[in-house]
Formats: sequence, structure tokens, C-alpha cells
Amino acid sequence: MSDRTLVIGIAGGTASGKSTLTQTLAKHFAGHVTVIQHDSYYKNNDHLPFEARTTLNYDAPTAFDNDLMIEQVKELISGKAVECPTYDYALHTRAKETVRLDPSPILIVEGILIFAEPRLCELCDIKLFVDTDADVRILRRIRRDVVERGRSLESVEAQYLKTVKPMHELYVEPSKRQADMIIPEGGSNLVALDMLVHRIDRVLGLDPNAAPLNAPIFEVDPQSA
Ligand code: ADP
Ligand code: C5P
Ligand code: MG
Repeated sequence: MSDRTLVIGIAGGTASGKSTLTQTLAKHFAGHVTVIQHDSYYKNNDHLPFEARTTLNYDAPTAFDNDLMIEQVKELISGKAVECPTYDYALHTRAKETVRLDPSPILIVEGILIFAEPRLCELCDIKLFVDTDADVRILRRIRRDVVERGRSLESVEAQYLKTVKPMHELYVEPSKRQADMIIPEGGSNLVALDMLVHRIDRVLGLDPNAAPLNAPIFEVDPQSA
């Protein structure tokens, strides 16, 4: 097994299936994977009243405490445990509890805007973008936010039109260019999952032909291409 951490970045629009893909990989490689989510690093807005917090823009890079996240990703890569903040979507602010994250051979970094922050993007060895049509995403988001995140249908609609959609077009969609692999339909894309699992197997040394971490799978000579 490699003594270096393989960092896998998983980005994509809201409700594209990032967290589902992340959980599928984390379950498959249980015990070998640490997951760190950009959402955990939304800024603490305790100083604002609840009503004001409901109207903030949560889809721009400035909504996140990127410095803290980058510091903690680097700590995990260097083999140290971190106390990760947790986020309360119903209250729109950081929760009091922190969660201890231990380092693992595989670190999955997940979030809508991780490739829009160059310092986070640079830390990812494999960059995946989950690509799901906007109509499918909004349908999923309505259901999820009402059932799991304590939202009303009206609030999801208003937020989507005011910030989620324009910020997606401004920041998330262009960040797709940073990706190594674009995965249509995330966790239900069995072909992409199979390729990923094989790549991770190689890193974990579960594959008899295991190559060193980040060794190119194919040597490509651009001159002869
Ligand atoms: P993200 O983390 O990108 O916002 P999630 O993984 O939370 O997206 O998925 C959003 C919602 O859509 C969740 O309720 C999830 O169960 C559902 N979902 C995710 N992938 C699929 C899929 N391939 N088919 C149907 N529903 C899905
Ligand atoms: O899981 P997903 O990628 O959808 O999480 C990111 C989304 O969470 C963003 O699109 C943002 O609008 C939403 N969010 C929210 N309310 C908050 C914080 C984030 O609706 N307080
Ligand atoms: Mg998610």
C-alpha cells in the first residue's frame, strides 16, 4: 500500500449526485477512505439573525471558509487527524459539534465549488465532475431540501432562482474544465464506478499489478499523437 494519500476531488452542481458517489466509494473501501466535504466549511453566520441567514448566497466561493478547509486537507494529507466543523442546513449556520477525521490512504474532497478554488483543486490527484442535467438536479433538490434540510417548497424555488442557478452558471459549470473525468449521473454510473474502483484498488495495493501512486496508466508522447 502506498504511504501517500490519494486525494480524489468530487465536484458538480447541487444534487448532481456527488455525496451519493462519495458514499458509494466510502462504503466500498470502508476503513481506507476519509471524506471531507466543502459544505462542512460554510462560514459561521451566528452573528446574523436567522431570517438574514436564510437569504445569504450559499453558492459563491466566498460562502466558504476555504482557508480552514485547505489547512485541514493538508493536515490529513500529512497524516494528522483534524477536528472538522459540522454544518446545520436547517439553521443555516455552523453547528457547535466538530467531528474528528482520521487520515486514510484515500481522501475524498467533495463539494460544488472545490474546483473553483485553485488551492483546493491543486491538492486533488484525481478530479471528477458529476454531470447531471439541471432539470433533474432541481427535482432532486426540491425533494431533498424539503425532506432532509427542513425547507419549504417556496424557499427552495426562490433560492434556486436567486442564487443557486446563477452561481452554478458563473462558477460551478466553468469549473468542469478542471476535471480529469466527467461522470454523467454520478453514483448510478456503473462503468465509471468500475474504473474508479480499479484505480483505487491499484493505490491500495489490492490489485496484483498495483502501480505506485500517481504513476501514469499510459505513457503518452504528445509528439506522436
Ligand atoms: P449532491 O451531493 O451532488 O448535492 P446527492 O448525492 O445528495 O447530490 O443527491 C441529491 C439527491 O438525489 C439525493 O436525495 C439522492 O438520494 C438523489 N440521487 C442521487 N443520485 C441519484 C440517482 N442516480 N438517481 C436517483 N436519485 C439520485
Ligand atoms: O449537497 P449540495 O452540493 O447540494 O450542497 C450545496 C448546496 O447547499 C448549495 O447549492 C447551497 O445552496 C446549499 N445550502 C443551502 N443553505 C445553506 C448552505 C448551503 O441551501 N445554509
Ligand atoms: Mg451533497
